[in-house]
Formats: sequence, C-alpha cells, structure tokens
Amino acid sequence: MLSSIIRSRVYEAAHILQSGGLVAFPTETVYGLGANAFNSAAVAKIFEVKGRPMDNPVIVHLASIRDIGRVARSVPSIARKLARVFWPGPLTLVLPRHPDIPLVVTGGLDTVAVRVPDHLIARAFIRAAGVPIAAPSANISGKPSPTTAAHVAHDFGDRVPFVLDGGRTRVGVESTVVDCTADPPTILRQGGITYETLRRVVPTIVVATHTTSHKSPGTRYRHYAPRAPLMLTMSHNGDDMVSEIQQYIDAHRAERVGVLATNEYAPRYRGAAAVVALGSRRNLRACARRLFAALREFDTMDVDRIIAERFLEVGIGAALMDRLRRAAQG
Ligand code: TXA
Ligand code: MG
Repeated sequence: MLSSIIRSRVYEAAHILQSGGLVAFPTETVYGLGANAFNSAAVAKIFEVKGRPMDNPVIVHLASIRDIGRVARSVPSIARKLARVFWPGPLTLVLPRHPDIPLVVTGGLDTVAVRVPDHLIARAFIRAAGVPIAAPSANISGKPSPTTAAHVAHDFGDRVPFVLDGGRTRVGVESTVVDCTADPPTILRQGGITYETLRRVVPTIVVATHTTSHKSPGTRYRHYAPRAPLMLTMSHNGDDMVSEIQQYIDAHRAERVGVLATNEYAPRYRGAAAVVALGSRRNLRACARRLFAALREFDTMDVDRIIAERFLEVGIGAALMDRLRRAAQG
C-alpha cells in the first residue's frame, strides 16, 4: 500500500508524463528516466538530457504482463514462459516491436525491450499514466546508474525537475536483458536475474559472446565510470589480490589511490587515500546493491586512480564483474 502523499506524487507524475514531460522514478534495480513510449518527441528528450547516443535503445516498462500486446507484435512462447516466472522483476525481454512503438525508442531496431518492474511506486505510476513508459537508467550517459533520488538530482538538477523518491533501490544493478527473438535465447546483458536462475527455466539459454553482443547496442559504450580511471585486479583470491592491490598503492605513492574493496580485505590496505567497502564476499547481492553508490562516492573523494577487487563470475558476481569491467574501460 502506498501512502497518500506518495499516491498524490504518483498522480502528479502521471500528469507530467501524459503532457509529454519526463519523470524519474524508482524501480527495484535502479532509477529510470521515463517518457510516454508512444510519444516520440517525449522519448527524444530523454536522449537529449542524458546525452545518450540515438542508436542505443531504451527499455519499455509495463504495469502488467497483460499489456504486452500493446508493445510487442508477437510473443514467442519462451518469452511468455520467462515473463510468467520472472515478472514483475529485473528481467527485460527483447521481442518483435509493435508498430505503435516509435523507432526512437528502439534505436531504429525492429525489436523492443520490455519489462514489468517489481516496485510498487513504479507500477502505480505506469498504471496511472495509462501508457507504457520508455525509460533508460536516470543518469548522465557514461556515469554510474542511480540507486537513490539524490543520484538523479546530482546528475540532472533542474533538467529533470520531477523525481519520484522511493528511497534506495533493492537490487542495485540493472535488469538482465534476454533476446527472445534469437535462437537460442541469448543474455545480452547480465543483471538482477542470474544466468543460473534463467537456465533452470530455459535450459538452452546462452550468454552473448563478443560477436553476438552487437545486438545489445548499449554494451558498445563506456559506462558506469567514476571520474578517476579505474582498474581491476588480475587475481580474485585472498592474499594474491591483497598484495596486488598493496603493490599498486605503493607504486603510486605520489597519487591519491582509491580502493574498491570488500569487508573481508578492506582493513588490510595501507596508504590508500580512500578504501570503500561494498559489503561481505559472502553476500554478493549486498555488494551489488552498493556498487553504483560506491563508484559515485569516489567522485566526492578526490582520488586520482581507483583499483577494484575482482569477483568470481558466478551468480550475481557476473553482473558485478560486467559493471566493473565497463567502468574500467576507456
Ligand atoms: O533495470 C533496468 O533495466 C533499468 C530500469 C530503469 O528499468 N533500465 C536500464 O536501461 O538499465 P538502460 O537504457 O540503461 O539499459 C537498457 C539496455 C541497454 O544495454 C540497451 O542497449 C538494451 O537494454 N536494449 C534496449 N532495447 C533493446 C533492443 N531492442 N535490443 C537489444 N538491446 C536492447
Ligand atoms: Mg543505463
């Protein structure tokens, strides 16, 4: 149940959206920057304020699986199955585009990415708006995704005056994107629902390789980057990793080095300008929840370079590593 204050904010937000405006809103993954998906001028504004390349398509959000026929031309049976099991939730399905969905939403593609978020405010907002909502993450292109309303305000200020505040997001990394028009179904982006979990429902599912990942245009661009250059350790096990990071700090004595660490190893680094701990390695979900806020913290700490602990790419560790690797590019 939503409080009456939130409910009236939701109605105000729906009104702005119906008038062609933009609204930032919480989901269980990260905050989204939404526009009426049927209004190409409104969607074009999203690209403009984010500084997002026009060929990088955005996700369309629905309040319920029942609305899927408004955005997809057809729904392959595998997609229907995934939606039934994982919606509402952090899973995005790439489907054949309905002709009512303008090409600006899909970056010119004949497919559309769709999901039903597992967040009461998000669904109340979409339902009140009465239209599907096109929304990428509500950050300036290239910056870490926002997991609080304050992150959104920091990136956009007055350019996005209306932010529905739902507090800190629960998952903290974006949805998993699965191309259901490919055979076999292909994970284009790792995210909140793990490969291992998806495989239990669709045993044939595969993870995109470099040659297939051009199908997810978003993966081409630099992402999630703090201001200071970030690098990842080579090793991911205890003592080797700690000594690798210590050597890195020692080799850059003249500079302010930040370390993105876990609780287990954070106390062992000597001489770092800042050590930000994500959480315990025994709870990678908690580490994922904190990742983007932690990357943003370094921007306030005036560090010259960042070295980040590596994670094993199993379970949610795959999404964590994907975001860290992309933060390290460029
Ligand atoms: O959790 C999330 O997915 C969040 C919340 C707000 O829902 N949204 C989000 O949107 O992360 P964005 O725009 O930051 O990422 C969308 C990803 C990009 O990698 C984009 O390339 C991919 O989805 N995508 C969108 N439409 C696609 C399509 N038709 N085919 C392939 N990939 C698509
Ligand atoms: Mg994004």
